Amino acid sequence: MAILDKHKILETNATLLLIFSFLVVTIGGIVQITPLFYLENTIEEVEGMRPYTPLEMAGREIYLREGCYVCHSQMIRPMRDEVERYGHYSLAAESMYDHPFQWGSKRTGPDLARVGGRYSDDWHVRHLRDAQSVVPESVMPKYGFLETRKLEDRYIGDIMAANAMVGTPYSEEMLENAMADLRAQADPDSDYDGLLERYGENVNVRNFDGQSDLTEADALIAYLQMLGTLVDFSTFTPDANR
Ligand code: HEC
Repeated sequence: MAILDKHKILETNATLLLIFSFLVVTIGGIVQITPLFYLENTIEEVEGMRPYTPLEMAGREIYLREGCYVCHSQMIRPMRDEVERYGHYSLAAESMYDHPFQWGSKRTGPDLARVGGRYSDDWHVRHLRDAQSVVPESVMPKYGFLETRKLEDRYIGDIMAANAMVGTPYSEEMLENAMADLRAQADPDSDYDGLLERYGENVNVRNFDGQSDLTEADALIAYLQMLGTLVDFSTFTPDANR
């Protein structure tokens, strides 16, 4: 076959092969990437998803700072063993307000995408303080210092504004009230009506770590207790099944 003989020219000339390989990859890339620019939305919107409250956002910052993602994923794959262990597989929309996303790539510990509400706040306090005291075989490090460190909330408005810049729909009002909302969520005796009005009724308002000070543990537990609880899977049906 004449055309196959011509292919020999490519196979025996490294420079030509490189140039043609580059061309092939470029065309393949364009074919895959270009359509994405013309799609209005690549994420199916799902009812219940809301931007994180200031306290949850502060907790998320601590999750990142402490590198929890090194041992924990937040992405349940659509496979039977995962769904039976962790619950409904993760939806793209569930991480739409994560900048950057926390899917993770390693599970030394279990997936945390749906850990919210699975344990009591008190369990989390004890587990963070000393994981081996509640799960003897655990290799999770101790994070007791989070209970004694006061939560630095001065920059929460800036952190939320930065998230707004990359697409999280924080309103002016949410940004203005960031610090007040942050404190209200950890204090059930406060006036937290504004917080619920801005973020919805499914916000947990509690003294998460059980002590009077507002600590990093409060923020981290508020974040953990929210994970996977925003979408109501008893009523959710994916678009394709409608
Ligand atoms: C060195 C790896 C490692 C790191 C880092 C780590 N964990 Fe863990 N984590 C584990 C292991 C292993 C388990 C399972 C045993 C247990 O429950 O302690 C676990 C369990 C958990 C659980 C219970 C999950 C469940 O469904 O039972 C939570 C919640 C958790 N970790 C949160 C965190 C948070 C928050 C951080 C960061 C502050 C963190 N972990 C950092 C290894 C780690």
